[in-house]
Amino acid sequence: LTPLKDTTDFPVGVAIDQRETSGAASDLLRHHFDQITPENHMKVEAWYDDQQRFQRHPQATALLDYAAANDLRLYGHVLLWHAQTPDWFFQDASGRELTDSEADKQLLRDRLATHIDDVARSIADDYGPFGSETNPLVAWDVVNEVISDQATPDGLRTSRWHDVLGEEFIHLAFRLADQAFNRDYAAPGSDRPVKLFINDYNTEQDAKGTQYEALVGRMVAAGTPLDGVGHQFHVSINTPVSALASTLDRFAGLGLMQAVTELDVTVNPATAANLARQGYYYRDAFEVFRGYHAGAPASEGLYSVTVWGLTDARSWRSEQAPLLFAGDLSAKSAFFGAIGQDDGLPPLVTTADV
Ligand code: G3I
Repeated sequence: LTPLKDTTDFPVGVAIDQRETSGAASDLLRHHFDQITPENHMKVEAWYDDQQRFQRHPQATALLDYAAANDLRLYGHVLLWHAQTPDWFFQDASGRELTDSEADKQLLRDRLATHIDDVARSIADDYGPFGSETNPLVAWDVVNEVISDQATPDGLRTSRWHDVLGEEFIHLAFRLADQAFNRDYAAPGSDRPVKLFINDYNTEQDAKGTQYEALVGRMVAAGTPLDGVGHQFHVSINTPVSALASTLDRFAGLGLMQAVTELDVTVNPATAANLARQGYYYRDAFEVFRGYHAGAPASEGLYSVTVWGLTDARSWRSEQAPLLFAGDLSAKSAFFGAIGQDDGLPPLVTTADV
């Protein structure tokens, strides 16, 4: 099969855990992808044992080792999220919930600073400074899913981060990540070796995209060290592909890169007709990505496009068969669409034919 990564001018990634790092799954991965994202094991809670002690999860180590050994880039996911974060982050030593008092704000700021510094040091200690040959980590989703699904005055999700610090937590997370990954633990002479992304879902929906755009605008205006805008793109075959194109266009001209961070395309039900439509969907989506990248200035192209899992069997939405490969590792129509090979696709069955 034509390697997917050879059909694009941008890196193509896949979210995995340790199960994809050996055997036939690993062979398939290395043939088609040049980047990995840890699906779960670099989330905040993964970095702590049940005594609140910092640790690196064995699966995070396995993925770093795998990336380093196989010349794959590793895209980190995530430094700050409202979910999968230990409760004690938001409590004082006696278990009291933090408020927005100045003392509590400072406690949470310090906690975030310690977390980000510990993560950076843990990785640099074992893989060398960021930007050196031996260190595979190239990017982070610094903050994940901070935009509200409803219209709110500041457009931001209600969360414990937001309750205590307001919008400040977003800017702070980027400043701390920049300090740790691009200065304190960066290889001398390297230039921003770790790219810092904001990441969210449903950014292809107009109301949410508008709130996202407004926040990104405030970050740029504030001089927050943001390198790029991430779009999860958890979509379905009924999401117009044109919405993906207009979402990328919406963020053009800001001097920022963009990344498709968690692409999958659900079909419901997974009939032959719908799986064929999915093939055409992936074809059209990758055509949009290639076209956007080709038309953008180098500083504003696509940093990477990542699919959220290697096979349907391993997807968080496995029953809706959203990925490029089936559970037996065979290529689906979705794959042939993604590489742009139309003659690999079955004829489209229209509703009228069914
Ligand atoms: O590892 C434990 C296992 O020991 C336990 O027996 C089992 C019982 O439920 O749970 C396992 O953990 C699960 C973990 O996935 C690993 O499979 C968690 O319950 C489950 O909540 C977790 O789901 C992940 C979800 O994020 C929540 O963190 C999905 O795999 C992952 O695909 C999904 O990814 C998110 C992105 O991080 C952010 N954007 C949306 C995306 C999809 O929801």
